[in-house]
This record gives sequence, structure tokens and C-alpha cells, in this order.
Amino acid sequence: MNVASPSALIRLLGVTKVYGQGPAAFKALDGVDLQVQAGEFVAVMGPSGSGKSTAMNILGCLDTPTAGEYRFRGVRVDQLDRDARARLRRHHFGFVFQGFNLLARTSALENVELPLLYRGESAAARHALAREALASVGLQGWEGHTPGELSGGQQQRVAIARAIVTRPTVLLADEPTGNLDTQRGREIMALLVDLNHSRGITVLMVTHEPEMAAFAGRIVRFVDGRVADDRPNGAPTDTASAEAKPATTDADAGTGAAGPVVADLPEAC
Ligand SMILES: Nc1ncnc2c1ncn2[C@@H]1O[C@H](COP(=O)(O)OP(=O)(O)OP(=O)(O)O)[C@@H](O)[C@H]1O
Ligand SMILES: [Mg+2]
Repeated sequence: MNVASPSALIRLLGVTKVYGQGPAAFKALDGVDLQVQAGEFVAVMGPSGSGKSTAMNILGCLDTPTAGEYRFRGVRVDQLDRDARARLRRHHFGFVFQGFNLLARTSALENVELPLLYRGESAAARHALAREALASVGLQGWEGHTPGELSGGQQQRVAIARAIVTRPTVLLADEPTGNLDTQRGREIMALLVDLNHSRGITVLMVTHEPEMAAFAGRIVRFVDGRVADDRPNGAPTDTASAEAKPATTDADAGTGAAGPVVADLPEAC
């Protein structure tokens, strides 16, 4: 169980999400309580339809709860208007999805530059920051390639570069290894762990794969729209990459994070 912490980066309290109305109404989240401290790496698991993506969308300000509280750094996000929520999202959240969600006929560099357009950076600054982000995910020299000219693992690296180019506080990754083979999945996990450790980015990652969850410092399990289990992670599984160490739940890791900047906008709010 979560002990209430006023300093939590993220706090959900009794969050409910109902889709549809009347007899067709469906409760996708049913009283979710969750706290995340700055610098944590949390894996979110659970059966299909248990509400994982719904919770991630609410956390990333892409959706709103039907009832309950969502606090980010103490601010009641559920009470913000649409514009304020969009600002919060742009300043603090980066998103990575299973399907990469890159623009097809657009170079890796331009894909990564995209969120920087939203904050009005000059072309020169956009190029420099995007090149740096691509280099940080191991894609130096691949800037001019379009997604079709890149492997799945490389495409996901571009998507991660796009998510971190704005230096978000929180990275929300919904099944980031779901379309990758095991080895490519491990490489992406090692990259996420490195971003968590070296930059202090708080990571929340949905996964169905225990091997990938083993990289996280904590595992939260959803069942039927509720948090059924929430515990610190143990050692990585036997089959996990020997090179990649699991993340810790060291709350101090978040102190190295860069200041708020505009985050990735995968779609209009
Ligand atoms: N926009 C929507 N309208 C109606 N129902 C929805 C909507 N989005 C999700 N749901 C329903 O809410 C429930 C939770 O969906 P959600 O996508 O959060 O599950 P999930 O845990 O991410 O599943 P998966 O592992 O398959 O991705 C499902 O039953 C789903 O059908
Ligand atoms: Mg999902």
C-alpha cells in the first residue's frame, strides 16, 4: 500500500474512468490509488483490458479521470482546464508507444525536432538538440534516414529521442518493447534504465513481459481497473541482459533532472 506522501511527484487518489454512458458505460479504472516519487522507474503490468493504458493516458494529461484526484507536484491536474493540462503535458511528459508513431516520410532528425517546433525553437537550435538526442540513443549518423530505412529497434530509439529531446520530467512508455524481438527489447530497456539513472527521468512503463519489467525498480499490477499489487522489484530475471542493471527506487535520482521544457505531443489535446 502507498503511504501518503505530500512530496510525491505523481499521486492518484481514487481515480475512476468510465467510458460511455447508460447501459453501455464501462468502468475502465475503478478507484486507483498510486504514488510515484521523482526518479522512480515503475513497470505497470496486468491483463489486457485491466486499465493500464487508460491510467497512462490520464497520467500524461491525454485524458481526464471521471472521478478522483490526480496531483502532479501537488497540483490538482483533474481541476485544470484543457489549456493548462496541455501546458503541463508539453512541459513535463514524454511519450513512447508500442508502434513508434513516427512520421513515415520524414527523417529521423525531423521526427525528433517535431516537439521543439511547439516551443518555437530556431531551426539551428532544433537541429542541434535533435542531433544530441539522437546521439544519446546511439543513432549518430542515422539522422537522415526515414523510419522505413530503420529497423524496429532503431525506430523505437528515434521515438525515445523524440520523447526526451524536450527534457521531460516523466517518460511514459506504453509497451515500448511490444513490437521488438527479445534482444532489441533488452537494448531498449537498457536505454530507458540509463535515461532514468543518468538524467533522473522518472519512467512509467507498461509491459506484458516479466523480463522487461525486471529492469524496473517497482512493479505495479492492474486487475479490473484497480491496483492489485504494488511492490519493489527484486533482482532481474535470469534471462535479463547481464550488462543492464535494474533501476533502483532511489528518490534522489530525480534531482539531476533538467528544468521543465516542452514535451513531446503525439497528438492534439
Ligand atoms: N476510448 C474508449 N472507449 C470505450 N472503452 C474504452 C476506451 N478505451 C479503453 N476502453 C476500455 O477500457 C478497458 C481498459 O482499456 P485499456 O486500454 O486501459 O487496457 P490495457 O490494460 O491497456 O489493455 P492492453 O494490455 O490490451 O493494452 C478495456 O476494456 C477497453 O475496452
Ligand atoms: Mg494498453
